[in-house]
Amino acid sequence: MQSFNPKSGNFKKPKREGQTVTVGRVEDVPPNRGATVELLNGAQLALYNIAGEFYAIENFCPHKGAPLADGHLCGHLVECGWHGWRFDVRTGECVANRGTVETYEVVIEDGLIKIRV
Ligand code: FES
Repeated sequence: MQSFNPKSGNFKKPKREGQTVTVGRVEDVPPNRGATVELLNGAQLALYNIAGEFYAIENFCPHKGAPLADGHLCGHLVECGWHGWRFDVRTGECVANRGTVETYEVVIEDGLIKIRV
């Protein structure tokens, strides 16, 4: 088992490879919900459906490493479930504390959710 150290960063963050990865169908993520997306190489993303618009960010809170896919959504903000830091899923900016998370472009084609990594 790999030990977790938040200071070492997000070891599950996808590497930027210029690829578009199909991760599911639109109906797999209900409106105003988040989901964890696990890529074939073990990398993870947090995917959100906000009123029919899809957004993807890294699945790692920069405070202590909580999975942001499990956070509470309020509009375009996701609140980390561990200590309440909030991030704008459109920009990755933390709204009340220092820190950002990486964002990934989401494309919907023929009902499929595709993420550019
Ligand atoms: S781990 Fe996210 S706010 Fe602490």
